Amino acid sequence: MTASPDLAALYQLLANRETPVLPSGERRAILGCGYVGKEVAKAWKQEGHELWGTTTRRERFGELAELVENPLVFDSTDASATLDFVSDLDGILVSFAPSKGSEVDLGQYRKTFLGGLRRLVETLDRRTSDTPLQIVQLSSCGVYGNRHGALTNEMAPIIDNHPVNQVLLQAEEMMASIRSDRVKVCILRLGGIYGPGRDIPSMLLSAAGGLVQRNGLNVPCWVHRDDIVRCICFAFDQGLDDTFNLVNDTQLSGQELTDRLCERAGLPLAKWLTIDTSDRILNARVCNKKLKQIGFTFNHPCMVC
Ligand SMILES: NC(=O)c1ccc[n+]([C@@H]2O[C@H](COP(=O)([O-])OP(=O)(O)OC[C@H]3O[C@@H](n4cnc5c(N)ncnc54)[C@H](OP(=O)(O)O)[C@@H]3O)[C@@H](O)[C@H]2O)c1
Repeated sequence: MTASPDLAALYQLLANRETPVLPSGERRAILGCGYVGKEVAKAWKQEGHELWGTTTRRERFGELAELVENPLVFDSTDASATLDFVSDLDGILVSFAPSKGSEVDLGQYRKTFLGGLRRLVETLDRRTSDTPLQIVQLSSCGVYGNRHGALTNEMAPIIDNHPVNQVLLQAEEMMASIRSDRVKVCILRLGGIYGPGRDIPSMLLSAAGGLVQRNGLNVPCWVHRDDIVRCICFAFDQGLDDTFNLVNDTQLSGQELTDRLCERAGLPLAKWLTIDTSDRILNARVCNKKLKQIGFTFNHPCMVC
């Protein structure tokens, strides 16, 4: 039997539509709907979850209302701010960070990260719900500090005592402290984030033929925004309860990276300094094997491929 012309048109229409996703019934919050948080909201909305999302600025409510059912103001530096709404949720993404200033301000880091997480931990300590809770916290490979370019996995001892890195480590420890039978905590240590609107390769290429006022011998690490979103979804799907480096395969020094980008674009090389200009350095070949071993794959494995 062949379909009537009308039905054929309907089939055609349905075939071209995105497959509808049935609501999963999960209730999830994104604490800090910034560059990454917003994209996670889109992915989770597509999966059918009911969402809460925070910003420090009420003027962003209109934008957030497109992404989450419940936009809220949360500013961890405000002593009266509460996170009571998280008590009976199924999932929480911790993705807030101090707003970008020209300098990293230690006091602001402490107030933002530690103040905010203390409030989260206190709220979750009072949680009476028996339902399982999955948390993903976005941390940073910055915690490894200066390892002189050594290959570095999650087991590497962290001896860097730069005060900003201490704050990041304390933040991780606070979140890890709430692990229990019912609460899983996945900590993702991110490399420098790049992606749409944060075009690091173009930024590096703009230095072609010039001098970069940073030590080009240090080895940073990188991860594409879309792989972060995919990995957060992976962490929720798999129920991850551990710490993972979330970086791509690019293990090049700053000088090597710009050399490759400039050569590929047929531009004159950029020259970097060979001495440190900052006391907070990441210099480590950060390894992503642990995530790959449990089945995570990168869509953007390399910044210069
Ligand atoms: N950027 C990187 O290269 C990098 C590298 C390693 C790790 N990370 C981590 O990755 C996560 C996501 O980064 P991102 O680039 O998406 O950050 P982002 O775009 O700067 O967004 C940060 C979010 O945090 C909110 N926020 C700022 N101050 C706050 C406060 N005092 N209390 C509560 N919320 C506050 C911001 O509010 P508004 O909506 O009002 O702006 C925004 O929604 C962060 O946890 C960051 O530490 C980032």
